[in-house]
Amino acid sequence: MLVPKSHLEIVLILFLSCGAFQSVHGLENGLALVPPMGWMTFERFRCMTNCELFPRDCISEALIRRTADLLVSEGYAAVGYQYLIIDDCWMEASRDRATHELQPNLNRFPSGMRVLGDYIHYNGLKFGLYHDVGEKTCMFRGPGAARHFELDAQTFASWGVDYVKMDGCYATEEDIDRGYPDFGMAMNLTGKPMVYSCSWPFYKSKPDYALIAKHCNLWRFAADVQDSFASVIKIMSRYSNKQDVLIANAGPGRWNDPDMLVLGNFRLSYDASRVQLAIWAVMGAPLIMTNDLETVRPEIKQLLQNRDIIAIDQDSLGQPGKMVLKVQNFQVWVRSVNPMNDVGDNSFAVAFVNQGGYALCPLCPQKFEVPLHRLGLKSRMGYNVMDLFNSTENLGLFKPKDRFITRINPEGITFYKFTVMANY
Ligand code: GLA
Repeated sequence: MLVPKSHLEIVLILFLSCGAFQSVHGLENGLALVPPMGWMTFERFRCMTNCELFPRDCISEALIRRTADLLVSEGYAAVGYQYLIIDDCWMEASRDRATHELQPNLNRFPSGMRVLGDYIHYNGLKFGLYHDVGEKTCMFRGPGAARHFELDAQTFASWGVDYVKMDGCYATEEDIDRGYPDFGMAMNLTGKPMVYSCSWPFYKSKPDYALIAKHCNLWRFAADVQDSFASVIKIMSRYSNKQDVLIANAGPGRWNDPDMLVLGNFRLSYDASRVQLAIWAVMGAPLIMTNDLETVRPEIKQLLQNRDIIAIDQDSLGQPGKMVLKVQNFQVWVRSVNPMNDVGDNSFAVAFVNQGGYALCPLCPQKFEVPLHRLGLKSRMGYNVMDLFNSTENLGLFKPKDRFITRINPEGITFYKFTVMANY
């Protein structure tokens, strides 16, 4: 017998049969098919909250509006930097007494988050917010999500948030393992698609990357980046030490996050800036800048907007690269990329790093040479080679047996695209 269904039941059946049901199992939110690109307040602006003393540097609506404007007017949005993410220290110390909702600090965010989100969206950008899965945010400035997952996910959805950076301070390892999937589920249930950036592995002694990749679009696998070459190198070795497991679990929709790009601040030389950008692209990392867009020097802006390198990062094969060779203080990093030729050989991005520190001449440019097949470049058709830092520089055709020779600045890098030839 046919039983008439209530309006609510019909809505529920439609909801389930439209695939919404699937989305509550694992993340599968269809987002971050290529690594997200954007800008974030930490590490440059840290937790500066004194707007009276430091009006240009405090975490505030003014900083976010100014950055939204600059992302567009300075051409960053046009090359892909899309997510504008407010890190820690945006919150009021406690929840709203009556509704228990999170509240932004009203002195620094007087318009509130919905209006600020609208401003970001109006500029064609996407809006990201920081939260913490435990009792407090890492800077201890606001409440964590503990016991309020559904409410906080709803609040974020109602503000139009597109990206959540979820930290893991003030939580036990067990809370972390339960909390990340549960908050992801709460986000899915809002129906508002939000990229889910998790710091989960960082808070675990033995991270289960396969599990984390099921629940997050990206995950931090190393300590916080600092504004220094040493920090960039440290994160690179953290990656290369674990690269097999990190690569195995990453791909479209799920990416390893080595933390923000610190280009454009105080301490990275021009060459070190090239290192961070190129190796982040080889890793298939999110390219999230943290800098004052108003004071980024022109040559660093040019690096950040290098379309050829961005294309390596965003490559549609979706396979993160790795370090394939370490000899003395040289490292060679390789990523398989498109295009492929008609017999299925792919192209490659290859980065040669000179870490510096040689006994004889620690801070000199150094020559490095290697036969290409040793790096895994084995297509017998050969490769046409282009300098990714200078696309007008075409180095010609190279076969796997050829030795590739490059001269690398100290604490610097050279970076080439090896485009595989067609198999005529
Ligand atoms: C942690 C995170 C950083 C940043 C700070 C903010 O240290 O790893 O990226 O979000 O918290 O408090």
